[in-house]
Parts: sequence; C-alpha cells; structure tokens
Amino acid sequence: MDTRAAGWAPCPGDDLRSAAAALLAFDDPCTKARTVLQSIDPRRRPCDPMAAIAPLRVGRSASPRLVCPRALRPRPVHTVEGRAALIHALAHIELNAINLGLDIVARFRGLPVAFYTDWCAVARDEARHFLMLEAHLHSLEHRYGDFPAHDGLWEMAERTRDDLLARLALVPRTLEARGLDASPLIRDKLARAGDARGAALLDVILADEIGHVATGNRWFRWLCERDGRDPLAAYEEMARTYRAPPPRGPFNLQARRQAGFTEDELAALARAAN
Ligand SMILES: [Fe+2]
Ligand SMILES: [Fe+2]
Repeated sequence: MDTRAAGWAPCPGDDLRSAAAALLAFDDPCTKARTVLQSIDPRRRPCDPMAAIAPLRVGRSASPRLVCPRALRPRPVHTVEGRAALIHALAHIELNAINLGLDIVARFRGLPVAFYTDWCAVARDEARHFLMLEAHLHSLEHRYGDFPAHDGLWEMAERTRDDLLARLALVPRTLEARGLDASPLIRDKLARAGDARGAALLDVILADEIGHVATGNRWFRWLCERDGRDPLAAYEEMARTYRAPPPRGPFNLQARRQAGFTEDELAALARAAN
C-alpha cells in the first residue's frame, strides 16, 4: 500500500524533526498539507535537536509541469482562467513554503527547541494557506496542477542547503520578504477584478507572512549574535555569495518594519535597489 497516498501520519512518539522529514517526502500536495496540520503540533511531540535524520527527500506530484519562469506568461485577471492561474501560482508558492518549513526543521541540527517549534508553526501556516488557495481554485473550476509552475523558491533552498545563515538570509529575509511587497498589489488586482474571496485570502496570508519574516529575522539575528557577526554585513555577504535576486521596489515598508527589519536594513535595501 502507498502509505503516503493513504494519508499516513508519523507515529505519535516520533520526534518533531523525524516527523518533518517524513512529511517532506509526501508526494500528494493536499495530503501533505492536511497531514502537516494534523501531525506536527509541537505541543504533542517531543523534539530532539540532535536526532540523526536520514537523507531528506522532497515529495513531488506529477503535476504541475515545472518550466522556467520566462515561460510563464501573465494572464489577464479579469477572466476566470487568468484569476485561476494567479491563484494557482500562489498555491504553488505555498506548497514550496510548506516544504521549506519542514526542510529547515529536519535539516539543521543542534539548535534550541524554540527554533524547531517556530518553524513547525510556520509550516502549519503554509499548509493552511495552501489549502485555502486550493479550495478557492476549486470554486474557479480548477485544481492544483492544472497550470505550469516554476521552481525558483525551491532552487534557493537547494543552493542554501548546507548553510543555515544563508538559508535564513535568502529565503525568509529575501524571498518571503519580497512576498510582503507583492501581496498588496496582487490583493488589489483581485479586488478590482471582483474576486472578493481571493482578496480576503491575500489579507489573511499577508498577516501570517509578516510573522514568518519576523521568525526569519529573529533566528538570523540569533545566529549572528552567537557567531559574533554583524547582521547587516552578514546579510550582504550571504546575498553576494548565494546570488540573491537584486531587490526591486516598491517595498512594503510598513510590513517590513512589522517583520523586524531595522531602519539601517531598509536603507541598505533602498540603496541596493537603485
Ligand atoms: Fe504562506
Ligand atoms: Fe511564509
């Protein structure tokens, strides 16, 4: 029997990091998201920061077809098809975000228990986001997998797989923070096209994503402090070494401030964008 397809869940006694590794390997996106919600509750599971985890495998469904970003042409949002394509792209990002949350928990050893519980909470939020968007996609007569997608977010995870400081710098503090900038624009686009439900979902997601970037900022600073590094200089070094995409405004400064970026960091961002 394919236990993953049948909704297998980690055993109750499994520790949080082993459970995250098991969930990462789920192929079916909806089963993965539902099982994440049911089975990585840090209040009900022990956490062993030093547990040895077998090599990680990321489960994938046969669809969507992955293409290079340039092959994805934006479709007009005033059509149902166009809105469905946009919601699908967001659902794809959320699925990658579930994987990123599970991966950071399973991959990186020896951190405080709070590190793992924080990122499990993020993975659970991402699972909720995915399922909300998938349900909305159904109301538009589509399902996840119907449109092609690109894999930029996961490529960044691969690039930073051996370096936690780089992972935190480039994923939550760069790519997810870009999501904070993009979210209000997409929300308004959906609202103007008459998709009130889609716009409301974007509001819920933005509020949660501010928390995710804040989690990234908190642990990035914690690591910098532990290793005696200056956060601003460390970020610049990571962005250069791991080829962060160049920043592009307009920036959602209010959301970025709420997520814990300092005025010095926001000034550096503005300089780098010019
Ligand atoms: Fe999300
Ligand atoms: Fe997120």
